[in-house]
Amino acid sequence: MMVTKELELEALLQENRHFEPSEEFRNNANVKTPDLYNESSEDRIGFWAKQSERLTWIEPWTKVLDWEPPFAQWFVGGKLNAAYNCLDRHLKSWRRNKAAILFEGENGDSRVLTYQDLYREVSQFANVLKSMGIKKGDRVTIYLPMIPEAAIAMLACARIGAPHSVIFGGFSAESLRNRIEDAQAKVLITSDGSFRKGNIVPLKSNADIALEGVNCIEHVVVVKRTDNKVAMQEGRDIWYHDAMKNAQLTCPVEPMDAEDVLFILYTSGTTGKPKGVVHTTGGYMVGVSTTHDWVFDLKEEDVYWCTADVGWITGHSYIVYGPLANGATVLMYEGTPDYPAKDRNWEIIEKYGVTILYTAPTAIRTFMKWGPSYPQGRDLSSLRLLGTVGEPINPEAWIWYHKYIGGERCPIVDTWWQTETGMIMMTPLPGITETKPGSCTVPFPGVKVEIVDQAGNPVPKGSGGLLVVREPWPAMLRTVYNDPDRYVSTYWSNWKEIYFTGDGAKWDEEGYFWLLGRVDDVINVSGHRIGTAEVESSLVDYPLVAEAACIGKDHEVKGQAIVCFVTLKEGFKVMDGLVDELKQHVGKKIGAIARPDDIFFTAELPKTRSGKIMRRLLRDIAEGRALGDVSTLADAAVLDFLKRKYNEEE
Ligand code: PRX
Repeated sequence: MMVTKELELEALLQENRHFEPSEEFRNNANVKTPDLYNESSEDRIGFWAKQSERLTWIEPWTKVLDWEPPFAQWFVGGKLNAAYNCLDRHLKSWRRNKAAILFEGENGDSRVLTYQDLYREVSQFANVLKSMGIKKGDRVTIYLPMIPEAAIAMLACARIGAPHSVIFGGFSAESLRNRIEDAQAKVLITSDGSFRKGNIVPLKSNADIALEGVNCIEHVVVVKRTDNKVAMQEGRDIWYHDAMKNAQLTCPVEPMDAEDVLFILYTSGTTGKPKGVVHTTGGYMVGVSTTHDWVFDLKEEDVYWCTADVGWITGHSYIVYGPLANGATVLMYEGTPDYPAKDRNWEIIEKYGVTILYTAPTAIRTFMKWGPSYPQGRDLSSLRLLGTVGEPINPEAWIWYHKYIGGERCPIVDTWWQTETGMIMMTPLPGITETKPGSCTVPFPGVKVEIVDQAGNPVPKGSGGLLVVREPWPAMLRTVYNDPDRYVSTYWSNWKEIYFTGDGAKWDEEGYFWLLGRVDDVINVSGHRIGTAEVESSLVDYPLVAEAACIGKDHEVKGQAIVCFVTLKEGFKVMDGLVDELKQHVGKKIGAIARPDDIFFTAELPKTRSGKIMRRLLRDIAEGRALGDVSTLADAAVLDFLKRKYNEEE
């Protein structure tokens, strides 16, 4: 990505609250002293070499890192298998009968798979794939709901060395088709349907549409989940349960080179078609198992719940590979947090005694909007640690999470990372890091993140700029599938040998990092660069506001003007004077320069299916342009409403 704007971001919003872990948490934490930070910064390579001992290797590696910028190889010469590390090795201990997956269906049905159960199903399904001619290196596309078969399919692919490409079940037939064709997948695994708020999403029918005219797919495996009628194409389609009937119970693991591809995961950039981010085996597994252990302070008896979908990187790294490599008990929930009622998440926590909850700021803001009565009606006392990921969390949402979900006793780990980084890169370590609401605190040991100016020079503490990763890290993406040029131009073209994240950030006098949003979302008002996240945070800080999205709109005099789209908390109506009051509030919190020019109220904001606000579309509306690519938009009706409203009020 070329950076054309001037890059020093103004660090305007001040947040002075801070929280220390309790004495009890600190004493029992997996990481108790900050020594790791010093050790890893003195010898980063040695640090990661040591962490590689967490895994079981078929053959040891001979060199930790081979770095020919921007192409890295980690644990060179090592051989291992990700599924073996997630399953087989746990069978040698008491963990064999430990719950690996606690599954809660949308309708309240549940299923428990022990490590032994999961091992057996994965081995059987690996044999099914083999019987379809899938061998090491062949791509398999997975388009499933949040059901155990999603993890089973991923691990079965890993077992035989077939890179998987998981497509989020909310994606359309067209998105599915593009991704299948890009990967040239041979097998597609889907289900008859997926439950969503009491309705059925017809995944198999979508898949049938997606496959029209596609030549690469030879077989489709269909998991029966919803029991709705689907068409089965003779010779191509087979039911999962039929295929499993005759499958052998054991299947040898494929020895994978540390640099063999484990999976491809498509992610959309701001422009262009989705990129197939490629992750390999050794470094990725070391990265996700280390971070999962330390960031979530994992204990044998924990019940760990990450609410992401397996279709996103968070699901790959922190539902499947990290937790299972660590022998954790993982809760998997099929449905949405408001079905059948708005306390569903809290009901699940009560039912299973969840101890660790990892969710997204967008969800937390939704819970805030619904109000505290829902969590207050359930027993959440089993929780001991909370996490967030995906966006900057507004301090007010952080405080709400801390108070109403964490009962003011649970540390919060705000984890910054990306599909491309594979693993958490910045985060508190919950037993040692003092947290500040809204800051993802500091880089993980062994990770060298910096904020630089346009020339690539680090900016001093107290200032802002571009967030980069200065040194290669084990779980980094290796390339863009079939497009190494795009890999180089997207991430490595601004400065030689420095990975550009696309995010703007600042660090404060104590070296804490504060994310300011994507650089392309940065607003430039009269030569002052203002991060959208800061304006949004200050709006959400106003008691009536649930959520806000801010964009820059071309302005004759100022260069750009700030336009905000705001949703109010449930039960509040727009009253006279509110617009002015909000403008003043932002002006007060950040400074007159950040005072919004226009504020629009809306019931919903346009979001991707993973919950990210699509500011690009809001910019199109505000500037009266034709809308750009809307294929990742979750709810198209929101846009029509906004367009109409915007034009009426302009
Ligand atoms: O802008 C950052 C934001 O999400 C981007 C990565 O998105 P994706 O690849 O979809 O992965 C999301 C899950 C890892 C980042 O470039 N982001 C992610 N986590 C945070 C965040 N922004 C602020 N704080 C975070 N904790």
